[in-house]
Amino acid sequence: MADPSSVPGAAPRAESVVDLAAVRQNVRVLAAAAPGAALMAVVKADGYGHGAVPVARAAIDAGATWLGVCTLDEALALRGAGVAAPVLSWLHLPDEDFAPAVAAGIDLSAASRAHLAAVLDGARRAGRPARVHLKVDTGLSRNGAALADWPGLLDDAAEAAAEGACEVVAVWSHLAHADIPDHPMLDVQAAGLAAAWRAAVDRGLTPIRHLANSAATLTRRDLHFDLVRPGIAVYGLDPLERPVGRTPLRPAMTLAARVVLVKQVPAGEGVSYGHDWTAETDTTLALVPIGYADGVPRRLNFGGRLRVLLGGRLRPVVGRVCMDQVVVDCGPAGGEDEVAVGDRAVLFGPGDGGEPTAQDWADELGTIHYEVVTGVHGNRVRRSVVDTGAGDEGRA
Ligand SMILES: Cc1ncc(COP(=O)(O)O)c(C=O)c1O
Repeated sequence: MADPSSVPGAAPRAESVVDLAAVRQNVRVLAAAAPGAALMAVVKADGYGHGAVPVARAAIDAGATWLGVCTLDEALALRGAGVAAPVLSWLHLPDEDFAPAVAAGIDLSAASRAHLAAVLDGARRAGRPARVHLKVDTGLSRNGAALADWPGLLDDAAEAAAEGACEVVAVWSHLAHADIPDHPMLDVQAAGLAAAWRAAVDRGLTPIRHLANSAATLTRRDLHFDLVRPGIAVYGLDPLERPVGRTPLRPAMTLAARVVLVKQVPAGEGVSYGHDWTAETDTTLALVPIGYADGVPRRLNFGGRLRVLLGGRLRPVVGRVCMDQVVVDCGPAGGEDEVAVGDRAVLFGPGDGGEPTAQDWADELGTIHYEVVTGVHGNRVRRSVVDTGAGDEGRA
């Protein structure tokens, strides 16, 4: 999309570049890890900040046959963009209007009798049966019917299915400790899902089962059942708490911004709010127009450890991260690697050019890379979707 504030052809001031070839590569890695199961690419939260529609298309190109989202709006946006693949939407209030989603052929999760009743009401108004995935809480204690409520939910679902008001497509659940593959809770939850599914079958239903997120897709073949639901690994970020060696996943997002001003400051000059950093020698500062309003957390530079790749070198961000900008120390003037207005500073990316990664930011922040990539705010950071073709060699 053209940036109306830029001269035609100029690179954006701040951009997140999403490489669809990386998405395809990651989906192939996941599909290869789960040969016996269908693959649902989770594209909620606007594709974890990468763009739900382009990621959905790339994932389907690479072999995904389902898409997963959190809200009805996210599901309908995919249909509005012409994405026809099966879509499951899973987190709703019972007073939402399910009729448009049923009419659009969206699969809907139900975790209580009230939710199921609302979905059935939507189906009646849409004039077609709802496709329902019954969610059971097997130990995460988040969404999903409690075990005590499961028989009642199944009774209602079986009755509605017998009347032709719905099809019970799946019984499903979500893991609490998938990032620790040998954690005993994984087996507890798998057994809970098996029992919940058996109770559905005993009522004459024929649902599939699904449980595995990215981590379980990559490490626990016994938990794949009929369908796996990877999210973060689709975007190339390693889901495991203790990754075992390097995975063939490739991070899809690069965050970058272009230098708007370069200037010399003398030794002793304080930089940015509060003068947390003072130049020890005469030095060159580059101003980069991206800040905490764009997804660069202010606390990321509290220890002064934030670096950007600029002019071929990793350089420190100095002083506080501001709402709209950061200041980079480029060293004494006159070096061979001088920085100029318009140069591109890479904040994070796949890491193969020497730039920091989303994992590096997460480690620094004491959080997870999920929060880093979904925290990139799109209103000022232009998203550019590219297709490097990397990893597609030898494919038709
Ligand atoms: C219900 C459900 N399934 C699957 C996923 C994908 O998880 P991950 O991104 O860890 O692969 C999520 C994401 O949180 C989820 O909420």
